[in-house]
Amino acid sequence: MNVPEILATYDDQAPLAEAYTIPAPWYVDARIAELERLTVFSKTWQVIGRVDQLEKPGQFVTGNVAGEPLVVVRGNDDVLRAFYNVCRHHAAAVVTEPSGTASLLHCPYHGWNYGLDGALKGMPEFDGVKCFERSDNGLVPVKVDTWETLVFVNLDPQAVFLHDFLGGLVNRSAPLGLSKLNYFTTQSYDIHCNWKVFVDNYLDGGYHVPHLHKGLSSVLDYKQYTIENEDRYCLQSSPMVASDEDAATGSTRKGDRAWYFWQYPNFMFNCYEGYMDTNLVIPMDVDHCRVVFDFYFSDVSEAARPYNEQSVAVGNRVQDEDLGICEAVQRGLKSRAYGAGRLSARREAGEQLFHQLLARDLKAGVRSS
Ligand code: FES
Ligand SMILES: [Fe+2]
Repeated sequence: MNVPEILATYDDQAPLAEAYTIPAPWYVDARIAELERLTVFSKTWQVIGRVDQLEKPGQFVTGNVAGEPLVVVRGNDDVLRAFYNVCRHHAAAVVTEPSGTASLLHCPYHGWNYGLDGALKGMPEFDGVKCFERSDNGLVPVKVDTWETLVFVNLDPQAVFLHDFLGGLVNRSAPLGLSKLNYFTTQSYDIHCNWKVFVDNYLDGGYHVPHLHKGLSSVLDYKQYTIENEDRYCLQSSPMVASDEDAATGSTRKGDRAWYFWQYPNFMFNCYEGYMDTNLVIPMDVDHCRVVFDFYFSDVSEAARPYNEQSVAVGNRVQDEDLGICEAVQRGLKSRAYGAGRLSARREAGEQLFHQLLARDLKAGVRSS
């Protein structure tokens, strides 16, 4: 099958009770992964760092979006800017650290210097070069914006504003006061599965929680679990119940409700009282993804460190449980026995929203190319 034929095998108009998942080839065919790179990851707002990393002039973070090396830096005028991290001379990466502070962006290859505003400032041994305008050779800019604790970039010069992209998510999550939380630590997982397998697992409305996450399950009122779809986000939420079944989970997952937000295509954040973890799902190739977890707490003092570490360990245990099942799913998606699956009408509305948004972007991308 060619790519349009593969895309045509999914019906994004079916009502939930009649809907199927996106078909197996979408998870295992490298042509679909490439189409996603061009039409999803090159056109949506993508998290690249945290506001606390970019508070002062000269602070920078580097990263990759859709395979493109990028750098975000705060200028001496306090303006946050993003650029392709590609030297205009011979294409070396200009900034080589993941994060830090600089007064100039200095290319390590032949020593070209760029200002924090991306302008080319100096090129050693370039006298006598004709038809070369320094002002035309600054770093190539990329859209950047912030929301709550997060810094986003978008490779599409025509992209809508970040707040319009986030849509209803902005108001729905506002009562949680996310920007008051403080960053604590990062954990990354490399998983042998397509990035969508991880997102699907997240969006199954708690369906897998009683089976796979016994500890987490003990603090959620599973029957009351709610699933709300709006715009490009899904909120899954559950009342919390006190439990002494699993002491570590009980003491670190507190409050009235658990809040699990997913924003299309690949970003989630999970909140309990005084706690948030964010999950960025980065496709590596069609069969592999990296999931980056940033943990935040209301109190990150030294005194709170043992508690926060215990809380992160609870998160890690849940991730390990998810990781094994995601890898099993990826193997199953390659089996001749599997084509596509049905969705639980009670639980899996978020997964359908994900598949519909993705299908619309991929189909539009094919039409325009
Ligand atoms: S590639 Fe950057 S100075 Fe030559
Ligand atoms: Fe899970």
